[in-house]
Amino acid sequence: MRRIDKGIFMQRTILLIEDESPNRAIVKRVLHHMPLTFLEAENVQQALELSGTGPVDLVLLDIGLPMADGYTFLERFRADAVNQAIPVCVMTGRTEDRHRRKAIEMGADDFIVKPVDNVELETRVKSLLRIREYQKRLLDANATLEGRVQERTAYLRAVLDELEHAWGENTLAYREMVMRLALAAEYKDKVTAAHIERMSHYSALLARRCGWSDEETVLLLEAAKMHDIGKIGIPDAILHKQERLTAPEYAVIKQHPQIGAAILAGSKSRLLQLAEQIALTHHERWDGTGYPQGLKGKDIPEVGRIVAIADVFDALLTRRPYKEPWPLTKAFDVMREGAGVHFDPELVEIFLANHGALLEIYGRFPDNGENNPPQGYLTPRPAANAAGTA
Ligand SMILES: [Fe+2]
Repeated sequence: MRRIDKGIFMQRTILLIEDESPNRAIVKRVLHHMPLTFLEAENVQQALELSGTGPVDLVLLDIGLPMADGYTFLERFRADAVNQAIPVCVMTGRTEDRHRRKAIEMGADDFIVKPVDNVELETRVKSLLRIREYQKRLLDANATLEGRVQERTAYLRAVLDELEHAWGENTLAYREMVMRLALAAEYKDKVTAAHIERMSHYSALLARRCGWSDEETVLLLEAAKMHDIGKIGIPDAILHKQERLTAPEYAVIKQHPQIGAAILAGSKSRLLQLAEQIALTHHERWDGTGYPQGLKGKDIPEVGRIVAIADVFDALLTRRPYKEPWPLTKAFDVMREGAGVHFDPELVEIFLANHGALLEIYGRFPDNGENNPPQGYLTPRPAANAAGTA
């Protein structure tokens, strides 16, 4: 048994455009048993005005109208986007193909020849109203779908915002953890947080200039802060000694790279792996006289060669219990003299070429609230760690 679609029996509105009143009466009589509301127009102007007053489900259009003809109505009616899906059925006595073709090309959906056959009119109207009903359902479904998509998009956006916020919090927490861990070791050595920030930023600057990626540079920025974490295992009596260290005491100090590497070893984190490598190699020297392994030249991992330069440079410019800050020109000279001896000569050249950026970092992380350019020529710490950094 065929299912009856009750949609077409709902109250619908037909815009009936016909200049002759008897013809309009015929149409209404033929369709009188259907739940229809008629908006009647005798010319194009009236028809356009009526079409703008409310929803129309079907247009029955006579072509031979006074003044502007039905084609004019079609053109202007279809120009409005809201009318694109409303079916238009042309009623005309002009039966030649060219008239039919023109009407269809200008946006008509169907064609009825006058004088109108009652059955044909009724079946065409029912058919077009059914199409209109399906179109409206489709539009409603699309609107519902669009609403759901917007709802889901808003929900996903909110979740992403929350995740981003949580990620930001985690990143802050992890950076703070790294800094506090580094400070735990440096605290024993009376070294400030500003030194850790400066030397890690000098390191990141040099790495960037050496072509490191953004991602690796950011990792280095954090990892470099833990370079001296092994000092946590060095007795205070040695670490804080103001006088020249004895050979056995200096041997103890020289254990801090291995202690640091041991603290950081075995992690799956790329950050901690990098930190381990830095801790172990930041006191190696280009000429092979460094510690703990006495590596030489490019056998020293690049990151160790980078951090060695950054660490020494900042130590030269920083006030320590045993020395005043060196003047900038003197520090640059010492770094230059260390090229090929203490430091990788190519890296030193790149490093010192970034004079402005180095000073910017120096000024951004002041000790005790202010960093003025270092003044005067003062004596560096004597003995084996001549550059003023252990
Ligand atoms: Fe060190």
